Amino acid sequence: MRFQFAEPFRIKMVENVKHTTKEQRQVFLNEAGYNVFKLRAEHCYIDCITDSGTSAMSSAQWSALMLGDESYAGAQSFFRMEASVQDVFGMPYVQPVHQGRAADNMLTKIYAKPGKVMLGNMHFDTIRGSAEVLGAIAVDQVIDEGMDASSPALPFKGNLDIDKMKKFIEENGADAVCCVVMTVTCNNNGGQPVSMRNLRDVSELAKSYGIPMIIDAARLAENAYFIKTREEGYADKEIKDITREMFSYCESATMSAKKDGLVNIGGLFVTRNLDIFQKANQLSILNEGFITYGGQAGRDMDALAVGLQESTQFDYLDYRIKQVEYLGDQLKARGVPIIEPTGGHGVYVDARRFFPHIPQHEFPAQRLVVALYEEAGIRCVELGACAFGSKDKLTGEPIWPALETMRIAISRRVYTNRHLDCIVEALAYIYENRDGYKGLRMTYEGPITALRHFTAGFELL
Ligand code: F0G
Repeated sequence: MRFQFAEPFRIKMVENVKHTTKEQRQVFLNEAGYNVFKLRAEHCYIDCITDSGTSAMSSAQWSALMLGDESYAGAQSFFRMEASVQDVFGMPYVQPVHQGRAADNMLTKIYAKPGKVMLGNMHFDTIRGSAEVLGAIAVDQVIDEGMDASSPALPFKGNLDIDKMKKFIEENGADAVCCVVMTVTCNNNGGQPVSMRNLRDVSELAKSYGIPMIIDAARLAENAYFIKTREEGYADKEIKDITREMFSYCESATMSAKKDGLVNIGGLFVTRNLDIFQKANQLSILNEGFITYGGQAGRDMDALAVGLQESTQFDYLDYRIKQVEYLGDQLKARGVPIIEPTGGHGVYVDARRFFPHIPQHEFPAQRLVVALYEEAGIRCVELGACAFGSKDKLTGEPIWPALETMRIAISRRVYTNRHLDCIVEALAYIYENRDGYKGLRMTYEGPITALRHFTAGFELL
């Protein structure tokens, strides 16, 4: 019997949140054009729009902030952060940046080439966008089960399909591919992990063709936890031994430190290749800041140095992953259809099965986001027709994505299981009354389709 099963921390400071009434929320939604990005955070009782930059820092991180050395060049904070990153990544060269997408931008400027393809399990939007701006083509090759929100549970639905990768290279030649990016965990399909075996296999195949492999490492610790608990041969390994092995297979890595860095802002570009590092240094000086701060304050780097060590502790990860799993289990028990197994940083509700009567062009996942906010003041995010939908370049005809989900992202160390129970109650209520909901019509998109997620406006049908 294990007696210590609660949170591995106690709460020292709280942030009050307010209740609103359903009538107030209907007004807020109307004013926001039914796009929850346009709501005020203070009007959200439980905010699950993202797990990015929303972590609660520990007392050790807050005290590290006070040690911040704000020197322009060669600050002590940089060296403390660099040592912590080297310890977790096992890679020598560390370029700080202000957040993940700055690292994505650096990565694509270094690796992506116009007309060349960037393969990957499932590219996150900011890497895809940065590559496409440069004229490169981002192609997703996740296993088929990873693209089907109703497929049975598998331990590693973030894996890249090696056969698809081989076929692509054989048909198009290795020259057509500029790099392979492995996103761990895979954010767009449910926070699903990638196995060590898959990282190794992809790396070996890429290497045999001289193609560099890169890891998008925003949720590296959560991925390592899944390897430890699901993959044969890793149960007795330390989390940091697992992260170091993961990175041993890649040439460079980017990281949004706002996730498993347990900080509110920050990012990293990490590499084992000195030549690549020097290119990153130049790009940092041009766009981010001098090499040893790259857009971060000294105190940010100190908080990150500590955060990375905390997020790679097994006890923290065990609590973290099991809390998210708890939410998934409660929802399943109430019949709510979710991507299975539950992912690392959130639960993804399958809106196709939730609202089978709402066609995709009427935005079922967005409708669910709106319903959940209206009923309970809980804010989630749509990852479906609005976020991933695109248009045919020639005809302008809409192209609808395979996945139609609502992500309930769980911030790290922020909410209690009672908060999660509220989410369950509200979603179960909407599910029981699902037949009464109609879809949405998009009334405004914004100038760029790929970014309409943030800018779109809707009306209720
Ligand atoms: N890569 C992944 C896998 C991400 O999930 C994100 C951000 C980024 C890169 C970009 O990092 O935000 O620090 O610039 N994901 C957030 C989310 C926005 O809500 O999933 P950033």
